[in-house]
Amino acid sequence: MMHLTQIKIISTGKYVPKKILTNGDLEKMVETSNEWIVSRTGIKERRIAEKESATDMAYFAALDALGQSKLNKNDIDLIIVASITGEQMTPSVANHVQKMLNIKHCMSFDVNAACTGYVYALEVAASLIQSGSYKHALVIGSEKLSNVLDYTDRNTCILFGDGAGATIIQKSENHQAYFYNQSKGDETDALTVKKYIKMDGRKVFLFAVDVMKKSIVKILDDAQLTIDDIDVIIPHQANLRIIQSVAKSLQIDLDKFEINLQNYGNTSAASIPIALDEYAKKNKQAKNVLLVGFGGGFTWGSAILQIN
Ligand SMILES: CC(C)(COP(=O)(O)OP(=O)(O)OC[C@H]1O[C@@H](n2cnc3c(N)ncnc32)[C@H](O)[C@@H]1OP(=O)(O)O)[C@@H](O)C(=O)NCCC(=O)NCCS
Repeated sequence: MMHLTQIKIISTGKYVPKKILTNGDLEKMVETSNEWIVSRTGIKERRIAEKESATDMAYFAALDALGQSKLNKNDIDLIIVASITGEQMTPSVANHVQKMLNIKHCMSFDVNAACTGYVYALEVAASLIQSGSYKHALVIGSEKLSNVLDYTDRNTCILFGDGAGATIIQKSENHQAYFYNQSKGDETDALTVKKYIKMDGRKVFLFAVDVMKKSIVKILDDAQLTIDDIDVIIPHQANLRIIQSVAKSLQIDLDKFEINLQNYGNTSAASIPIALDEYAKKNKQAKNVLLVGFGGGFTWGSAILQIN
């Protein structure tokens, strides 16, 4: 099944906490080394939220996206936040963001699809806008993963960081946005969060390479485009070796991928919107972007849409 909507991204924003946790810092906390982390993952440092909650970071990213747009905050009538690290079961992070922005009339809710959450949220928002019931959606990925990391477990604590990215989308008859999101329920133990993140790293790695390749091929096929029509691929920022494997096997130049995981590690649902924002701020011309993600569940997905 192909999912086509007529929407475009009109602005992006991000927020990352100031505190930097380097590989050198982690060497003092667990039995690891900068050399191991860089060679196995590409990650050099990550941000850690001290005072900020996932809600605070979502709000700050939303302010940035609103500031980049010509909209008034009351033009927003839909807020969807992708997060697995909100402070409360309810109200949702999105409800809190609505309150902090003081938006009176709007639907707001969270989506939990782990690291694929932002791509899922974008598809849901695009569908609701396509229905004609909503005009401007704020779609946010925000995570405070430091809250669910066991800093004595070297298998996981070196990989993740905190941050938030936000996007505003609206209907546009001249633009076409394609979505492909999937999940499978038979691998629910491979990556879980109860108190802490637990993960079968090798299994996740193999799964990630496989579904990223399939998701890129599928969405290009749906859109009847080739990789040359795409200006940038924004992948989920989990591990440089995963992205390198995908690039090599699909024979795509690594330069086509926006990569910032060296600075932030894996920020789960925030990773794609943060990278998208950094790309958008560097490249002001209208661009065809391909998003591709994967995560616990397992979940995975991709999208092709236009920005600006
Ligand atoms: C986690 C990951 C980096 C591990 O890399 P890897 O090359 O697969 O390494 P392995 O799991 O084979 O472990 C190799 C060895 O390094 C050790 N090791 C694990 N973490 C380490 C660390 N931080 N520092 C030093 N050694 C470490 C392991 O204990 C293992 O030792 P052993 O051979 O004595 O048992 C990699 O599997 C990965 O990135 N997986 C995907 C994770 C992911 O993306 N998760 C998020 C999904 S949204």
